[in-house]
Amino acid sequence: MTQMIDAPVRVSAIQSAYNLWSLFYGSIVVPMERKPRLRGIELAAIQPHDRILEVAVGTGAALLEMLKRVDKVNVVHGVDLTPGMLEKARRTVAKAGFTNVDLRLGDARSLPFDDNAFDVLFNSYMLDLIPLADMPTVLGEFRRVLKKNGRLVMVNMSKEHGITLWERLYQATPVRLVPYLYGGCRPVLMDGPTKAAGFREVQREFVKNIISSEVLVARK
Ligand SMILES: C[S@@+](CC[C@H](N)C(=O)[O-])C[C@H]1O[C@@H](n2cnc3c(N)ncnc32)[C@H](O)[C@@H]1O
Repeated sequence: MTQMIDAPVRVSAIQSAYNLWSLFYGSIVVPMERKPRLRGIELAAIQPHDRILEVAVGTGAALLEMLKRVDKVNVVHGVDLTPGMLEKARRTVAKAGFTNVDLRLGDARSLPFDDNAFDVLFNSYMLDLIPLADMPTVLGEFRRVLKKNGRLVMVNMSKEHGITLWERLYQATPVRLVPYLYGGCRPVLMDGPTKAAGFREVQREFVKNIISSEVLVARK
């Protein structure tokens, strides 16, 4: 069975690293992940009046795509752990002329939103930096804030076979450097944890790019 390795990174280390990453993330990393991210948005099948939450908005690449697909008066909500990334997201959407956005600083482990509030929850390249022990909490929060039948879409760094070279390097690197060198990210396989969290109709596909990504859709 293909296993996941752990990501033993602390919240404070992720925030410090991503405040730094925010300076060049949009120009270097975002373009490399464009294809899988757009596939996730396509599978989200966004409707103009959907209530949408993006968790871990980063520099706002997916947020912008979702704003293009909703009604101009429909407010899209977003949350991120890192002030620097959130600031970039604010600039991305403002530059494109969108004002129907609610962006908040927050942690996926404790989302600042009501139960049963959203039709769509989009999350890209975040679970791949979350420690294994925290995955049930995060998925539980995703489930809590989604409406019944709400759609979960997750895009993450992944793998299709065995232990990869990336994982070997990740595990050989001192933990304090992992958020800076790898963004904290290692390949994950989220179908099992998503089913275990109570989601149904879990479907996934792998999108090959420079790295392999898993695009997963499920319903509450
Ligand atoms: C690899 S970046 C991906 C950003 C964006 N989703 C994308 O696809 O470009 C990871 C993002 O997750 C955020 N993040 C990490 N842990 C988080 C958590 N527990 N709650 C919310 N955001 C988190 C980071 O601040 C960073 O913006």
